[in-house]
Amino acid sequence: MRISDPKIVSRLAELGVELKQGASLAGLTSLGIGGTTDLLRIHKHESIPDLLTLLDGNHVSHKFLGGGSNLLVDDGELPWVVLQLVSPEPDVILEGNFAHVDAAADLGRIVTYCAKHDLGGMEGLIGVPGTVGGALRMNAGAYGMQIGSYVREVKVYRAAARKVEFLRGRQISFEYRHTSFAPDDMMLAVTLELPSKPYNEILKGIRICNEKRRSSQPLGQKSAGCIFKNPPGASTGRMIDELGLKGLSLGDARVSDRHANFFVNAGHASARDMLALIAEVRQRVQKAYGVELENEVVVWNG
Ligand code: EPU
Repeated sequence: MRISDPKIVSRLAELGVELKQGASLAGLTSLGIGGTTDLLRIHKHESIPDLLTLLDGNHVSHKFLGGGSNLLVDDGELPWVVLQLVSPEPDVILEGNFAHVDAAADLGRIVTYCAKHDLGGMEGLIGVPGTVGGALRMNAGAYGMQIGSYVREVKVYRAAARKVEFLRGRQISFEYRHTSFAPDDMMLAVTLELPSKPYNEILKGIRICNEKRRSSQPLGQKSAGCIFKNPPGASTGRMIDELGLKGLSLGDARVSDRHANFFVNAGHASARDMLALIAEVRQRVQKAYGVELENEVVVWNG
């Protein structure tokens, strides 16, 4: 979708919102898949209520993009614009055991920064790509920990109420790769409470997690991490592997040879290829195990 009305363009400039015309979502997602649309880069949280009033008033549909690392976006000209927060400087402020973090901050950078200040707990998240806001929305987790355990307060723009709200950690439910945030809530900032731990000890934990990840996941390839959630008590990766589906390809969309729940873009995969591969694997797992797999990856198609 393109914003061409000069009145909207000049209002965006007044609000300090940067308009990037014809941005390629393939370049903004870790899968390297996605069509084109206008990208609105938000530099100040304060401009969000007016921005959304402007877009809604002019019937401009929109979606919020985090780090694009758990996302499969449709091909072609997209029917909505994309909003993305720009990380401020600094993007994290420490106060004792509390880390006040901007949602646009890079998750890995924040884990490392906190570690250097003797704040641990998030070692498992070190190799998880994406922003802190994205991790928060999905309750990202790995190696026995999840970010939700450390959340004390969240600053969120609630589209339904059209205002910025502060939620206490206990007002939010954090489950396995799921939270109680509404789909159109926009994460703005979070306060984490992290346990004190000497840097050297945290570093040991980080190295162990990095090593485990390197040995089991296709890190150098374009992917969105795990495509499906694990059903209770079972491993999706193991089921797909047992069916001999590693390497199964549709166009350039391919089930990873290294971890069967990672689907990689081995060249110029389209969303159409990737969605067809997801459907095919889901169907085969359903047939063999009677299990209906649920997407872990977020799909934007329509
Ligand atoms: N396995 C296979 N073949 C495979 C992949 C896995 O046999 O191709 C087996 C492994 O040998 C192991 C079991 O399945 O016995 C579980 O595998 P793994 O330890 O890799 O964990 P996972 O359940 O597949 C989950 C998360 C990952 C996270 C890791 C580490 C989900 C859907 N996946 O994977 O998260 O990094 O644990 O904690 O919950 C993600 O969210 O995108 C993601 C990659």
